[in-house]
Amino acid sequence: MEELKTIQWFPGHMTKTKRKIESQLKLVDAVAVLLDARVPYSSCNPDLRSIINNKPRLVILNKCDMADPAETKRWLRRFRENHVSAVALDCKSGKGLNGFVPAVREVLADRIRSWQEKGMTGRTIKVMVVGIPNVGKSSFINRMSGQNRARVEDRPGVTRGNQWFTVSKGFDLLDTPGVLWPKFDDKIVGERLAFIGSVKDDILDTEHLAGRLLETLRDTAAESLCGRYRLSADEIEGKQGYELLELIGKKRGMLISGGEVHTERAAATVLDEFRRAALGKITLDREEMCGDVRI
Ligand code: G4P
Repeated sequence: MEELKTIQWFPGHMTKTKRKIESQLKLVDAVAVLLDARVPYSSCNPDLRSIINNKPRLVILNKCDMADPAETKRWLRRFRENHVSAVALDCKSGKGLNGFVPAVREVLADRIRSWQEKGMTGRTIKVMVVGIPNVGKSSFINRMSGQNRARVEDRPGVTRGNQWFTVSKGFDLLDTPGVLWPKFDDKIVGERLAFIGSVKDDILDTEHLAGRLLETLRDTAAESLCGRYRLSADEIEGKQGYELLELIGKKRGMLISGGEVHTERAAATVLDEFRRAALGKITLDREEMCGDVRI
């Protein structure tokens, strides 16, 4: 995907964030790694494992309201098999949020016991929240702290300062210091992050992107695709992305003078509908198709 190559890396930013996270790690007891449940593999920065080093960690699969529940279960199992604690939740409805604090306490059980043995009973548990832009860090912090101090930004990648939030007495969250950029080295990863809207559309060719999304859905979620756009299996079979886009534009009556399909409009519609889960709960990173998620 040529379009994504142009926005590949701001290595300077990443180095700065890496240093910031490393320097703040000593202030916290654990790290909560937020991933997008629709793309648990693609939304994980592969450098994170070395940045977090041996700090206790917990994976949060956020936005599970938009992911396939069976796939979310598979991913949770995979993390746990790899000895990484993981919970699924959704900051939209708040489902699963109650499980976060107990899960952190479980991860830190040995430490908490040792604090208690040393008489440090009132010690506050401090957790750093990290994740690539748009996974829902601000929403999560707002939900957990019940305050609106972490401003929800609608633009991916907006730098925020170092901020602490109190969840409850004795439990604090630290927002990611800096912006943890994802990695687009892998073409599929870059595409999937663009599909879910983690990359600004104004620097992408949306028709190409929507076409690629339609090809991906044709291969992995054909029923949802056909259901949403009233297409038959025969109609989508063997079609290229652009042809699928034209087909959908035609079905939706998106025509310009001369009867041609307004593919730009169709592309915007397809991307928008996918991103708000109008096609159903779809997980793009299928657990059995993805490599190791290094956390
Ligand atoms: P960030 O700090 O990691 O960059 O993410 P942020 O909380 O800003 O969330 C990015 C977008 O994802 C926001 O939508 C937010 O509402 C949405 N979001 C966060 N968690 C969930 C979730 O569990 N489920 C769903 N469905 N959406 C979630 P937005 O369109 O950018 O803003 P807005 O419409 O909320 O104003």
